[in-house]
Amino acid sequence: MRNTYEGRSVLLTGVAGDIGRTYLHQFVKAGAQVVATDLENTTDTAESAVAEANTLGAGRAVFVPADITAAGDMAKAVRTATDTFGRLDALVNNAAIYHGLGPKRPLTELTEQDWERVLRVNVVGTWQAIRAAAPALADGGGGRIVNVASVVTRNGAAGFAHYVASKAAVEGLTRSAARELGAAGTTVNAVSPGLVDDTGSRAVNTDEYMERVAATRSIQRAMLPDDLVSAVMWLAGPDSGFVSGQTVIVDGGGVFA
Ligand SMILES: NC(=O)c1ccc[n+]([C@@H]2O[C@H](COP(=O)([O-])OP(=O)(O)OC[C@H]3O[C@@H](n4cnc5c(N)ncnc54)[C@H](O)[C@@H]3O)[C@@H](O)[C@H]2O)c1
Repeated sequence: MRNTYEGRSVLLTGVAGDIGRTYLHQFVKAGAQVVATDLENTTDTAESAVAEANTLGAGRAVFVPADITAAGDMAKAVRTATDTFGRLDALVNNAAIYHGLGPKRPLTELTEQDWERVLRVNVVGTWQAIRAAAPALADGGGGRIVNVASVVTRNGAAGFAHYVASKAAVEGLTRSAARELGAAGTTVNAVSPGLVDDTGSRAVNTDEYMERVAATRSIQRAMLPDDLVSAVMWLAGPDSGFVSGQTVIVDGGGVFA
């Protein structure tokens, strides 16, 4: 695959989670210059992910603590990319509330605060990052935005109504942003992961549920963060310039849509 990241700069959110750390490492291995972000209270974990990434390859990463819901934080992250690396080529909107959702609950037991928190981070935060990055992406003429949805928008995942709704909104935002930012040459797509066997999923699902989901896939095994890497890197890279507004499901053939 011709998809070198040498000389490309990527803003990646949510690097303290298992999936974000995996993306970070693969981007740096491929030669990318990465501004890696996550909440300030994850600094130890995020800094160690960045330090490890910097031992892996030709690229380089720097950590910037940033809350995706805060306009000033996201502007600072974008400025770090343009000041440190001279450009911004891609935004990967990986951060979300997932791990922190707590146990699954019937929608009748969710509170307004639960809804507001999830929508604020997963939807408004994704928009906030797009808003901050769009001008710098446009400067290069071939910007890439990769949002992260979830297969739960297709299968409905009982007990997670607010999270499912938030990820459906991310798909809608992806299409709308694709229409608006396409004029500047920026593509906007979403990757929709299936249930990944990671710390976040193990915190909100039973082992039995994890095994049951794996058995429903066409490829009947646990899904790992590494399974997402090629789709994300293709959509964030130079070779996908005529693909926009799409949601690519990566779940081992579990749902077809
Ligand atoms: N793990 C799965 O099975 C699965 C499935 C489908 C989609 N996803 C999505 O993939 C992405 C990564 O998932 P994960 O399992 O690594 O999740 P995770 O919860 O472990 O990590 C998400 C990261 O986002 C960060 N974050 C949360 N709120 C933030 C904010 N306001 N500002 C900045 N950062 C914030 C967290 O600190 C965390 O490090 C998420 O978008 C998630 O919704 C995960």
